[in-house]
Amino acid sequence: MDTETFLDEVLSRVKIFLDSSQSDVRIRSEQTHDSLLRTSDLKLPMEGRGLESALDDIESVLSHSVRTTAPGFMNPLWGGLSIASLAGELVTAATNTAMYTYEIAPIATLIESSILKRMAELADFGTSQGTLTTGGSNGNMLGLLCARQSKVPLSSQSGFDGTKMVAFVSEESHYSFNIASNVVGIGQSNLIKIRCNEQGQMRADSLEDEIERALENGQIPFAVLATSGTTVRGSFDPLREVAEIAHRYDLWMHVDAAWGGSCLFSTQYRSLMDGIELADSFCWDAHKMMGIPLICSAFIVKDAEILRAVCSNGNTAHYLYLETGEDVDLGLYSLQCGRRNDALKLWLAWREIGDAGWAKMLDSFMKLADYLERSVNENESLEMMSNRMWTNVCFRYVGSSPEENLNHINTELRKRLIHDGRFMVSRSTIDGNIVLRSVIANRSISEASLDSFLQCVVSIGKDIERGLPPNQ
Ligand SMILES: Cc1ncc(COP(=O)(O)O)c(C=O)c1O
Repeated sequence: MDTETFLDEVLSRVKIFLDSSQSDVRIRSEQTHDSLLRTSDLKLPMEGRGLESALDDIESVLSHSVRTTAPGFMNPLWGGLSIASLAGELVTAATNTAMYTYEIAPIATLIESSILKRMAELADFGTSQGTLTTGGSNGNMLGLLCARQSKVPLSSQSGFDGTKMVAFVSEESHYSFNIASNVVGIGQSNLIKIRCNEQGQMRADSLEDEIERALENGQIPFAVLATSGTTVRGSFDPLREVAEIAHRYDLWMHVDAAWGGSCLFSTQYRSLMDGIELADSFCWDAHKMMGIPLICSAFIVKDAEILRAVCSNGNTAHYLYLETGEDVDLGLYSLQCGRRNDALKLWLAWREIGDAGWAKMLDSFMKLADYLERSVNENESLEMMSNRMWTNVCFRYVGSSPEENLNHINTELRKRLIHDGRFMVSRSTIDGNIVLRSVIANRSISEASLDSFLQCVVSIGKDIERGLPPNQ
């Protein structure tokens, strides 16, 4: 098979997969791990099988993949697809390069820089530097590493005793901060969790109390880590208040805007991140709300030199970074050596719809989340489980069951939803209660698909209450 026919065939299969995901199909096949392992041909052969067999393999992969562009997919904080960015993925692979030097990635370097500059401008960051990373988890780690570098400038050269250094983060923050505190060398017990209010926002008064307590204990506070868009409830910490405290105690302030960063496009919602300009660094996942295929995430810092020191290679990479007299190589601001051109797909999508398009998309997501919340409130079998600030809608089925049965019912309900296969939402816990967390981050979702979703939830909930087995 020639290359052209092969590529046409691949694209045609991908197109069928994407189109059919919009119709009434199962989002996920029901096979268990063991059964899929048993029935799949995964062997790496001694003799090659040729391109035609790759087409069969692609068919098989597509048929066993979760349809994350389907309207019923509301499970993680991402979903849907920008078709321009799909093209970007293809061109990135076809022009396969690494982002370390301008020499090897000239146009890609300019594209990545222009994206970082615009994201920084949206946060009113003024002069800044950044890098695209593998996601919010690594963005948070970079934030903590920059904080360490700022507090102990020699740490990148001579190491670091983190046993007394403490950082502060909200109790509802993402788990990546726990991992980051380990990697950065302070250990998880030196990551102090700050109490949240009933909306899931970090309490500024508790933050101040904890900083004072740490100082009294002889610990060394060095960073405050705020969140704009928490994982479960979608809450936004009060950045201006947090910044005032961070500055007063001379602490680095990093903001995890992996999930909520897109509010910066919207005149209506950008006030959720009021005060972001006072932070020292932030991260923002374009692969979440903006619908760019994984991976595409930005880390941005005001003081370029701090990031450069964190990523210093001690001038050992003489074979890469030549003396060109220009300071344009993005590899000097990254923890990676080889790094994909993840900028292109975001750039193409951004050029397609512009700032105005992102704002419109966000506003429509918020309207759909309002609609879902209203529908939950109007349905006496359902109950909202948290106030809403973003597109996370956390609710549970209550039916006519006593409180003590509800965790069991909602756990079982989520299991049966997955078995049913038309909708995927995640299961989470708020104040000890099991909730269904549905998020709107997928352009295929509509009021009609949300109506069907709630009908499905209520129908399954009633079956469980009546003691009926799952539908086969
Ligand atoms: C608030 C928040 N921060 C960070 C992350 C981690 O992002 P990533 O999966 O891109 O590493 C997540 C993931 O869901 C998140 O919800």
